[in-house]
Amino acid sequence: MIHVSAIAKRYGEREALRGVSFTAAPGERLAVIGPNGAGKTTLLQILAGALAPDGGEVTAGPTGWVPQRPALYGKLTVAENLRLFARLERVADVDATVAAMLELTALGGGEEAGTLSGGNRQRLNIAIGLLGDPPVLLLDEPSAALDPRQRERLWAFVGALPATVVYTTHDVGEAERYADRVLVLADGELLFTGTPTELRGFGGADLEAAFVAFLHEHGH
Ligand SMILES: Nc1ncnc2c1ncn2[C@@H]1O[C@H](COP(=O)(O)OP(=O)(O)O)[C@@H](O)[C@H]1O
Ligand SMILES: [Mg+2]
Repeated sequence: MIHVSAIAKRYGEREALRGVSFTAAPGERLAVIGPNGAGKTTLLQILAGALAPDGGEVTAGPTGWVPQRPALYGKLTVAENLRLFARLERVADVDATVAAMLELTALGGGEEAGTLSGGNRQRLNIAIGLLGDPPVLLLDEPSAALDPRQRERLWAFVGALPATVVYTTHDVGEAERYADRVLVLADGELLFTGTPTELRGFGGADLEAAFVAFLHEHGH
């Protein structure tokens, strides 16, 4: 369960977030979409507890944070990366957790992280976010570097997780297919929260067109 109430974040003069409020139920999948600079990454960092808001309240419990750029050690193997992050995460049984993550991701443990395909690197990145078995998983543009087939596999993998998932994406079609609800963020303001079907109501041939029409209607 995530509860966000009127959060604000400023970087100097720049208001990265203004009065953002929403909730997410257990197991819900939320897609955060919006133009570059809208505040999507800032919002996820605040949910992750990696950044403190200047105002408002956040209740998210333990979260797994998967940043856009994987913080992997290229010279270490998949298993060595998992073991290292499991120790940092202070998980109780490192060996069992690493084994569970290898099974979950269907990755071999022996390959060097630096030689993984983009799709497998992203799976490892997500596995690291899942090490502490968090009830909430936060993914920042998880599919940005993936080809269409890798994307399908990523979403099948994420879709099978029991966690509440909040992700950002530039691909509106992905929000339509893989989210229960969509949050539209523009210029630090949350302009829309609803189902993809409700957003679709803003017209156009598809959700992307509806999204663009929606932003235009709201002066963006
Ligand atoms: N560390 C930072 N220092 C100063 N400004 C920042 C910092 N991080 C983000 N911003 C600014 O805050 C706004 C929101 O950024 P961000 O959350 O990264 O947006 P998005 O992920 O939607 O592209 C942008 O105007 C960005 O330039
Ligand atoms: Mg971002």
